[in-house]
Amino acid sequence: QKVRVKVPASTANLGPGFDSLGMALNLYAWIDLAISEQTTIDLIGDQMHGIPTDKTNLIYKVAQMVFQEAGVSHPELSISMYSDIPLTRGLGSSASAIVGALAGANALIGNKLTEYELFQIASRLEKHPDNVGASLYGGIVVAFWDGEKAESIRIEPDPNLEVLVAIPAFQLATEKARGVMPKQVAMKDAVFNLSHSSLLVAALITGNLGMIRHAMKDALHQPYRAPLIPGMKTLLEQAENHGALGVALSGAGPTMLALVDQRSGRKAELEGFLKETLAKEGIEAQTLWLK
Ligand code: HSE
Repeated sequence: QKVRVKVPASTANLGPGFDSLGMALNLYAWIDLAISEQTTIDLIGDQMHGIPTDKTNLIYKVAQMVFQEAGVSHPELSISMYSDIPLTRGLGSSASAIVGALAGANALIGNKLTEYELFQIASRLEKHPDNVGASLYGGIVVAFWDGEKAESIRIEPDPNLEVLVAIPAFQLATEKARGVMPKQVAMKDAVFNLSHSSLLVAALITGNLGMIRHAMKDALHQPYRAPLIPGMKTLLEQAENHGALGVALSGAGPTMLALVDQRSGRKAELEGFLKETLAKEGIEAQTLWLK
């Protein structure tokens, strides 16, 4: 018996919702899992270099967690993975591997665990539920993980909402991008994010796309991460003048993300602005239109 899981990429934070907002994107990874006599791991594609193909592989380990949690024996697995999601760019590639492994392993054993239980394992592994929540449930996910449990609500994205990502050619490890953040923040910055994140969620639920421009602002992580991504500060300050509803760092970066109203008629202008701004800083970036 073999299962194939198609799992979406995701963008986390959406600006102010640090570690708590995520959105699935229509860029995918495919994971095949089958119970076999001997474990084999086949990673297809150029970007998979350096990812382990022994039992230290993330997909293998996560699948074993599902078997353990479900109380079934731990079978050997034949695993293969193909992904269109660029690695270490802030598009949730590791979350997609985790969610794919969870859903695939669970399907192999007749879905003994609920989606909620899978979400708990995923959040525990990542320590923030934003990317895994979006990859698991799809759409926009508002979530928390308090160290013990995770809870979430899914929002259906407005049909006019489009996403432009500019994916720089360089990689940025999440650990590094978390390492530059302060251990404590000022109350005024906490209140700033609380209010903006709440407003952003309300705007997304009600379809008040014009409010995104005001709501998609952050004082908790982007100011500290901006020095790691040349051109980011200019994009945050100016992309809205070139047709973006709002702009943010995608997850821990280095990908930049703009939300766009597909009726705006300014898509080409915005894409050009993103590419040119990064190019001026010597950053080569691939742009993609996603939903
Ligand atoms: N919320 C996380 C961060 C996402 O910004 O660090 C990256 O995994």
